[in-house]
Amino acid sequence: MPPVLANYYLTYKCNSRCVYCDIPVNPNNVKVKEVNPQIIIENLQALKRLGVKVIDFTGGEPLVYKNLPQVLKAAKDLGFYTSLANTGTLYPYKAHQLKGLVDDLKFSLSTTDPDEYKVERGIDGYSKVIESVKLAKSLGQSPSIIATATPNSLPGMEKLIKLAYDLGVIVLLGPVFDYCDNELLNQENLQELERLMKYENVCLNEAFLEFFKNGGNQINNPRCRAISSNIVISPDDYLLLPCYHMFDEKLKIQHVNGISNLDELWHSFAVQEKRKKEGSWSFCQGCTIWCYFETSFLWPPDKYFWLNARSKTLWFKEKLKQKMLAPK
Ligand SMILES: C[S@@+](CC[C@H](N)C(=O)[O-])C[C@H]1O[C@@H](n2cnc3c(N)ncnc32)[C@H](O)[C@@H]1O
Ligand code: SF4
Ligand code: SF4
Repeated sequence: MPPVLANYYLTYKCNSRCVYCDIPVNPNNVKVKEVNPQIIIENLQALKRLGVKVIDFTGGEPLVYKNLPQVLKAAKDLGFYTSLANTGTLYPYKAHQLKGLVDDLKFSLSTTDPDEYKVERGIDGYSKVIESVKLAKSLGQSPSIIATATPNSLPGMEKLIKLAYDLGVIVLLGPVFDYCDNELLNQENLQELERLMKYENVCLNEAFLEFFKNGGNQINNPRCRAISSNIVISPDDYLLLPCYHMFDEKLKIQHVNGISNLDELWHSFAVQEKRKKEGSWSFCQGCTIWCYFETSFLWPPDKYFWLNARSKTLWFKEKLKQKMLAPK
């Protein structure tokens, strides 16, 4: 089975400086240059040939990539389901160009307190995010809020959920994962997440929560399918292996006469050999980087599979409800 999802890093640049993310400041990232949109479109065509269904355009801040509307349009024309997480601090400047091009539009927000927002995300952006949610809704989009649950943000999370309810949006609540030596949630925090997920407009993937509680990925019996189910592309046109967060290998994508070899690259001996070891390297022990687990849980049919399926169904129902209530 080919990967279902592509995590397409359009840029590593970002106008925010979140406490739990080093993407824009990592010394290996700061000099990385973005490619032109034609190269991305050729890769999208290769992803289509490969059988990928969903493209998650990410970064850095994907709205910093100036050709984002052109790339999204190409993805839609190729029939992909498009997903875009962004801070909401730049969206008002591009909203009209992005209208109708994103199937799953998400704004990151974990607090209702502008000062706490500043501490968490390094910029004074709270009011812009609220403006973005309202603007997206007024344009007939069905945005969600991605809330990162940290020991600091959890006490204010209920207020955020209520605000989201008043705004008519879903909160995708996720526990902070270990990436920049950040403090993780303790047992008490996890119980609080279980309480909060009972709110009607909250979607928390129960499979992640269970996985988190069980200590994450175990290298002697890996649950990670990061290479099998995901494909990760860097802004400077490399296939990253095994995942963005812990890549130890990058393969340059070749383009000849307007054709990308990304699909052939994924099928290559080197990638398939690496795939056999996914989740088993020492850095994979205890991993809970949820970006790769929603698709990892698509098989085999174990408890994570069923919990994931139930959570995705609930999410889908909520999205549908929101879409039906959206202005035309
Ligand atoms: C990497 S960002 C890229 C898109 C955009 N810059 C944004 O922040 O929305 C995607 C999402 O990952 C979340 N994120 C970043 N680091 C995280 C971590 N260590 N644990 C959990 N979520 C994290 C962000 O809050 C954001 O919602
Ligand atoms: S806005 Fe997104 S990419 Fe930028 S620092 Fe925060 S989480 Fe990382
Ligand atoms: S377990 Fe985590 S670090 Fe290891 S390959 Fe999978 S996603 Fe990457």
